[in-house]
Amino acid sequence: LHIIHIAAEMAPVAKVGGLGDVVTGLGKALQKRGHLVEVILPKYDCMQYDHIRDLRVLDVMVESYFDDRLFKNKVWVGSVEGLPVYFIEPLHPDKFFWRGQFYGEHDDFKRFSFFSRAALELLLQAGKKPDIIHCHDWQTAFVAPLYWDLYAPKGLDSARICFTCHNFEYQGTASVSELASCGLDAYQLNRPDRMQDNSAHDRINPVKGAIVFSNIVTTVSPTYAQEVRTAEGGRGLHLTLNSHSRKFIGVLNGIDTGAWNPSTDAFLKVQYSANDIQGKTENKEAIRRNLGLSSAAVRKPLVGCITRLVPQKGVHLIRHAIYRTLELGGQFILLGSSPVPHIQREFEGIANHFENHDHIRLILKYDESLSHSIYAASDIFIIPSIFEPCGLTQMIAMRYGAVPIVRKTGGLHDSVFDVDDDAIPLPFRNGFTFLNADEQGLNGVMERAFNLYMKNPGRWQELVQKVMSMDFSWDASAAQYEELYSNSVARARATKE
Ligand code: ADP
Ligand code: GLC
Repeated sequence: LHIIHIAAEMAPVAKVGGLGDVVTGLGKALQKRGHLVEVILPKYDCMQYDHIRDLRVLDVMVESYFDDRLFKNKVWVGSVEGLPVYFIEPLHPDKFFWRGQFYGEHDDFKRFSFFSRAALELLLQAGKKPDIIHCHDWQTAFVAPLYWDLYAPKGLDSARICFTCHNFEYQGTASVSELASCGLDAYQLNRPDRMQDNSAHDRINPVKGAIVFSNIVTTVSPTYAQEVRTAEGGRGLHLTLNSHSRKFIGVLNGIDTGAWNPSTDAFLKVQYSANDIQGKTENKEAIRRNLGLSSAAVRKPLVGCITRLVPQKGVHLIRHAIYRTLELGGQFILLGSSPVPHIQREFEGIANHFENHDHIRLILKYDESLSHSIYAASDIFIIPSIFEPCGLTQMIAMRYGAVPIVRKTGGLHDSVFDVDDDAIPLPFRNGFTFLNADEQGLNGVMERAFNLYMKNPGRWQELVQKVMSMDFSWDASAAQYEELYSNSVARARATKE
């Protein structure tokens, strides 16, 4: 199959969170299965350009419509992790992707609706005939209605549209008139069975539009797919999802086991594997030294947490976990940053409070290389999310031998199974889970984890080796996507014939 991913993120060149990991990981896994996979991204000024191979600009510019005018777009092509990537640079006076950050601009709706249309225009003008156009999250959700309204009739009609929603919290709603800028018939689409927001009827909802207009709709774990079909979990879209339930499915993400591999990871002080976990201790010593934490005689676990600090991640529970770890005599390293000013300020306060403490360290920034060192150094990895569509950090942590403590929700519920839960077959049990999103719930599970670590080092070591050996690769999930794509393509051919 010829598969085009259109996205706002791609690791490692343009990554904010898990979306970037997924575009690259899924893309590589599909390529390995013999498909032709290409990616279209905005050409951000703030990308990690050193990870792009053979970047060059194409001779021909792509023209695209916006706000009643035609704009030219430079198109760059290069290779990221072996995947061909087209980068679109709009020659628009607002310099949409020249802002020093990926998201969070006042005109994000404009930036990404422009990009969605330009991406389809690139496919059309380059004469590409993909079988699948796979778009991700609200930023590229416009692709689905644009395709059926404007591009299928223009001859780009071979494709099936797959939309993956990585997080229903972000729907990108806007006023009806804003949607018209990219050339969609906004007033026609502002209907309850199309793009009209289910609660604010004077607004349109790109994610709803993608649910309605795509052939395949996925989210990133089976449990989250169930949660969002309920009034509590669906963020206003549960009825829409229920009425399109035949094309909606949850597929658990994998991780890129090439990029996340403790036996080859160049960011680590010492590489190690499940058969030889001594190196893990050396990584722990190294990070303690580098961050000024004490090491001598600390026999208690090092707890790690790497996260965007947003309410979804259970920030109050993360804060509690820091203090509880201290009470239990362990050490805690937090790597994270927040787009929410009051949360960032609060954690800066905690970071300052513990600035010279020898058991606690908070590093409030995004740092790829440090993240690898923390996964490798941690004994326990904590993810107390309020909701979690999939979550990748629990899988990465396990790959590096850090045993996860998670709240039972979404993809965490589908990938972490409690060591003490007799209802789960023993081979699957790989961590510690709790349900109640409160301090008592967290205290109980932390005590269980600390107890096992302290009182039964032999069993702990077996657990570390076990979690490191589990398969969180993309293999199974990429096969599932392949099947969804192929079935959809076959159905389209059958109806045409
Ligand atoms: P989300 O996409 O909701 O942020 P995921 O668990 O799916 O959560 O993915 C998070 C990804 O971002 C992981 O690869 C994690 O290592 C990375 N990450 C999160 N915060 C940071 C940070 N401060 N520095 C480096 N990497 C981070
Ligand atoms: C979103 C979700 C996260 C998921 C990631 C990749 O950012 O918050 O749970 O793992 O997308 O799908």
